[in-house]
Formats: sequence, structure tokens, C-alpha cells
Amino acid sequence: MRKYFIAGNWKMNHSISETIEYCRQLRVKGLKNISSDIVLFPPSISIQSMMKTLEDTPVKIGGQNMHQESDGAFTGEISSEMFADSGCEYILIGHSERRQYFNETNELVNKKLKKALGSNLKPVVCIGEKLEEREAGKTSDVILEQLKNGLKDIAKADMQNIIIAYEPIWAIGTGLTAKPEQAQEIHSLIRNVIKNDFSEHLGKNLRILYGGSAKVKNAKSLLSEKDIDGLLIGGASLKVDAFYKIIQIAENLTIN
Ligand code: 13P
Repeated sequence: MRKYFIAGNWKMNHSISETIEYCRQLRVKGLKNISSDIVLFPPSISIQSMMKTLEDTPVKIGGQNMHQESDGAFTGEISSEMFADSGCEYILIGHSERRQYFNETNELVNKKLKKALGSNLKPVVCIGEKLEEREAGKTSDVILEQLKNGLKDIAKADMQNIIIAYEPIWAIGTGLTAKPEQAQEIHSLIRNVIKNDFSEHLGKNLRILYGGSAKVKNAKSLLSEKDIDGLLIGGASLKVDAFYKIIQIAENLTIN
């Protein structure tokens, strides 16, 4: 039985003190009886403060990016072992901003993915097409390529710990959201790839998140789609009220 997965990717936003205040407010709103999986991805510098402030709540914490090596002379980088040791359960891999501004390729995504799994982190692998690719009718090709190369040589036993986030690049931070049926079409494609390439069971249980201007006003329609199991929220997760409202929307829906 799948549960909704509501995640906030804060990107490079919120200082440590703002993080503590946000988490205090989130606690006050009430997290005790939440049945969905709730995950926050803060800047790495705030992970410890967030963890302390959200202690004894069901909210889990993840890193936004990791290096593919364990340690060494890689100034500014953080390894999967370090994230795991800090208490993180999840890690974002291959976010389109990493692909766009830091030249991350599907091959690098694949390396990081294997490394994350080896450190017992649960990877949230982000994929999605650019506007020009959608307009050229190439969306499916791009998604299939990202899945084929990104998930290359992943063992079946590991696939159950992987979450996929479909984030059409043209919808990220633009206020343009994919229509629920547009997102559903791609989510269904992703699920079928996993069913065919891994197993029926793994495909059926795979959690696929939608990201790209997800907010309070579109959360219900997106989450109501058959193959949308959760949301990866950027801008709207920065405001505690909006994030909490989206959690409540998920709590009041039954997953298909
Ligand atoms: P926005 O919700 O701000 O469009 O960001 C989506 C995103 O990139 C989440 O990873």
C-alpha cells in the first residue's frame, strides 16, 4: 500500500535561524497523526538544527546533492556517508538545477545513485524535459533516456528504495504547472518502464513524485491522478503555512 510523499526542496533558501523558526511553527501546527511521508531538503548547513527542532516528529530530512566519492580533495563537497552519518534518510539526485548549472549528466546521476544506495540513503532521482523538448514532441524520449542511463545496472533489490520525481523543467519556479493529465501521462510511462525493466511488483510500488510549481491550489488535482504519489515542492514549501496545507490535502485524500 503506497502512502503519499510530500517533500519540500528548499534549494538555497532559509538561514539556520529561519529554519529553526519554520520547524517550530510546523511542530505547533501538529505533526503527530500524519500518515503521509513528509520530507524536507534544507541547505546542508541547516540539517543538524532542523533535525534537533523536529526531533520526535515523523518529518524526515534529506540532502539536496552529494558527491560521488566517499572523501578526498573535493573542496565544498559532501559525501553520501556524511549525509547518512548526519541522520539524513533521503538524498536528491539529478535535480534539473544540478544538471543545468553544474553540468550533471545521466552518467553522473547513475554513479551518485549507486553511491547513495551503498550508504543506505533513499535517493529521490529527478528527471524531466525542457520546454523545447516538449514542444518538439520529445518528452517521452528524454524521459526514457534519463531512466535508461540514470538507472543503469541498478539491482532489483535496490529499486525498492528509489523514488522518482518527474519535474518538467518548464514548470519549475515558473508558476506554470503541468496539467494533472499531462503529469499523469508521464508518471504512467515511468511506472511502465520500471514494471518492464525491473518487475511488475517494483513498478506497482514505485513512488513517483511530481514537481514544478506544485502549490496549495493545484495539490489536490495533481495528487488525485492515479500515478502521482506525492509532490516535490520548491517555492511553496518555503512558507510553513502553504507546506502544512499541502500536507493536510494529502492527508485527506486516499491514494489510488
Ligand atoms: P517549484 O515548486 O518552486 O517550481 O520547484 C520545484 C522543484 O524544483 C522541486 O525540486
